[in-house]
Amino acid sequence: MKKDTMILGIETSCDETAVAIVKNGTEIISNVVASQIESHKRFGGVVPEIASRHHVEQMTIVLEEAFQTSGLTWDDIDAISVTQGPGLVGALLVGVNTAKALAFAKQKPLVGVHHIAGHIYANRLEQEFEFPLLALIVSGGHTELVRMKEHGSYEVIGETRDDAAGEAYDKVARMLHLPYPGGPHIDRLAAEGEESIDFPRAWLEEGSYDFSFSGLKSAVINKIHNAKQRGETLKDEDIAASFQASVIDVLTEKTLRAAKEYKVKQVIVAGGVAANRGLRNELEKKFSQTSIPLSVPPLKLCTDNAAMIAAAGTINYQQGKRSGLDLNANASLILK
Ligand code: KG4
Ligand code: ZN
Repeated sequence: MKKDTMILGIETSCDETAVAIVKNGTEIISNVVASQIESHKRFGGVVPEIASRHHVEQMTIVLEEAFQTSGLTWDDIDAISVTQGPGLVGALLVGVNTAKALAFAKQKPLVGVHHIAGHIYANRLEQEFEFPLLALIVSGGHTELVRMKEHGSYEVIGETRDDAAGEAYDKVARMLHLPYPGGPHIDRLAAEGEESIDFPRAWLEEGSYDFSFSGLKSAVINKIHNAKQRGETLKDEDIAASFQASVIDVLTEKTLRAAKEYKVKQVIVAGGVAANRGLRNELEKKFSQTSIPLSVPPLKLCTDNAAMIAAAGTINYQQGKRSGLDLNANASLILK
């Protein structure tokens, strides 16, 4: 009988310290996430120095818990995978150095993982992939459409030229005096509002799968300022609903077009903004009119975690990709 592959995953690219153990790239054995959101909330965003310090404080605790809840020992682990980038360099370094120290001390292979590959592979913890597939990645730092012809091969066919979708959500939320991270709050307000304001949609050039959200963000800010100057009151719910409608329109339409053009067998959605109810509903509606299956991970696998890093790391490991003990964090690592 073929032996199972057990991969330990470590993720520290932003404000979540996470360690997980995944079996065969598809089954979560343990998945521990320590969120720092409370510490960053009062600053309205992630403060890099604070993030790094918290990762240092939390890492051993989270690692121990991941082993405790798994019932496994180091003997069961085949390799250690870690987010190499992109992300905050100081934060990434904590994970990378932990992984390197463990790989050396426990004599285990080390596998660097791209954070976005992790978000994509979060889906494989729920459902096996069918190639070619198209992934829409929407997070605080990324908005990308990625085509995959096989495991471990990524072709970015579209990306944001300015703000990421999650970043736009967080900035608009800030204008509305909502707490960080603002995405879930806008999502909630949007469900109670009317799409009464006509915000722009950045379609860009004909055939382009790139995105742009900074124009929309400015339009929202201008609308709020102008209304204030005129003494008009706009309902926050309506601003949220109209902003969200613009984001969702562009994301879903471009995903649908790309899925058809590339004749993919599956569409998957990943990243923190994939938790958005409006986006999920609209994608489900659009794709139910096609024969292309759509897969959206459960909420807790949408946001940053280490199970997704272990899942992506399993593929790298099985494909013979290894990192040396000179592995370095790379804040702007390219997905390829
Ligand atoms: O993937 P993630 O946890 O971290 C990054 O890698 O960036 O994504 C975090 C982003 C934040 O911008 C947050 O506001 C957004 O995901 N987000 C949402 C929702 N939940 C989280 N955006 C819109 N609607 C949501 N329900
Ligand atoms: Zn992420």
